[in-house]
Amino acid sequence: MTADIAIRNARILDGSGGPGFAGDVAVERGRIVAVGAGVGAAREEIDAGGLCLAPGFVDVHAHDDGAFIRHPDMRFKLAQGVTTCVCGNCGFSAVPALPGADRAAASGGILAGLEGDFTDLEGYFDAVLARGPAINNMMLVGHNTVRAQVMGFDQRAPTAGELDRMKGLVRRALEQGACGFSTGLIYRPGRWSETEEVIELAREARAFGALYATHMRDERDNLLGAVDETLRIGREAGVHAHISHHKSAGRRNWGKVGASLAKVDAAIAAGQRVTLDVYPYTAGSGRMIEYFDLDRVDEDLADVMRIATCPPFRELEGRMVRDIAAERGMGVAEVVRAILTAPKGERTLCIQFIIDEADVETNLRHADMMIGSDGIPELDGKPHPRLFGTFPRVLGEYVRRRSVLRLEEAVRRMTSIPADTFGLADRGRIREGAHADLVLFDPAAIADLATYDDPKRTPAGVAMVLVNGQTALRDGEQTAARAGRMLRYRRGAYRAD
Ligand code: ZN
Ligand code: CU
Repeated sequence: MTADIAIRNARILDGSGGPGFAGDVAVERGRIVAVGAGVGAAREEIDAGGLCLAPGFVDVHAHDDGAFIRHPDMRFKLAQGVTTCVCGNCGFSAVPALPGADRAAASGGILAGLEGDFTDLEGYFDAVLARGPAINNMMLVGHNTVRAQVMGFDQRAPTAGELDRMKGLVRRALEQGACGFSTGLIYRPGRWSETEEVIELAREARAFGALYATHMRDERDNLLGAVDETLRIGREAGVHAHISHHKSAGRRNWGKVGASLAKVDAAIAAGQRVTLDVYPYTAGSGRMIEYFDLDRVDEDLADVMRIATCPPFRELEGRMVRDIAAERGMGVAEVVRAILTAPKGERTLCIQFIIDEADVETNLRHADMMIGSDGIPELDGKPHPRLFGTFPRVLGEYVRRRSVLRLEEAVRRMTSIPADTFGLADRGRIREGAHADLVLFDPAAIADLATYDDPKRTPAGVAMVLVNGQTALRDGEQTAARAGRMLRYRRGAYRAD
């Protein structure tokens, strides 16, 4: 039998975390059919030249629900070696949606680009597939989206009937293949929920063996209380809890990630299923309006904030709020109010330098810590560079330059652990029978080139990417292949089951 593609002379990092080994990989009809020394002939022969061949990277924290429709080439992820995104994070998901409604409304623009008349996950998947996505997509169903559909932006607990309707919407998405239920408990309307409401909804994931993924209620002064709430939700709902973009935000809280991880470790030791992800940057990013009470602007936060995308004032994109204030002889609070109260000002995205570099390293050193970009795919203005650089940055900066992680271990955090946790069946490992999602990269050259000033630069050192057996990127250039699939959660895939 002649395979479709043979990749020869590679250093194979199979995703297990074990030492790399020299060998070949053969691909046939979208699957890996042989791994080892001297696989048979193939129609297309590729000499890897000794570069590293790994399973395609999994971005476990993505907000690309709309990007899959607006930018189906998914260039900013594919060029990093990412072959699957987990979307629907932070409580914001493409579905459920009401017929005719603005699908991005509840997310306030984070999910901009969601076009189509879909209302459920099946419909959304069809809409994405019609555009020809370059990479795979796995979805979470979001609390903010579900709550907004049932209760609007009411600041109260749901009635029994409303709770039932929310549960039904969560269940329907899980039935159609979502890998779990996500929350964003700092955002509207999720922040108005009591813990009990979240437990009730997360419990829907239990029957599916699915996840509860959370942007916790507090990542600042009450980080530890928020971790306690997350662990309680996981325990009482009987689900695997996943903490998104683990951090301790604001200078006075730096270092608390140690205590937070200790709580997680204690829960794991007691038999609870808990996992986490982190992005390799010291700045967060999001919708500016979510971070401020306009009557009492947090000046410490405004002082470390930079403008990413600003529809009313494009000239401010890429500038620090404090520099704008100094130039205009205004206070930072005044600048914040001027931006947010201008027409379309609520669509402003910001970048805030709130994280300690030492905490990023502490997170990356934690056992099984996964990598999630948290990139917001708004390409106007100057987005956070994590959208274009996250995975090469971990491999170039934290593996090669700082030796925080071994290369094989970093690859494991980006491949097999996410595949097992987020239920990506037959992905995340190089072995016979697995889907042929593969990335070939140069471990000596891989690097993020995206910076805060020039955030849309393609990373260096990624030579080739295969998605479902098709060459999606070759010699660093994207091909016309559009082989991405919409993935359905395979229950029970997590290794602790
Ligand atoms: Zn978040
Ligand atoms: Cu997020």
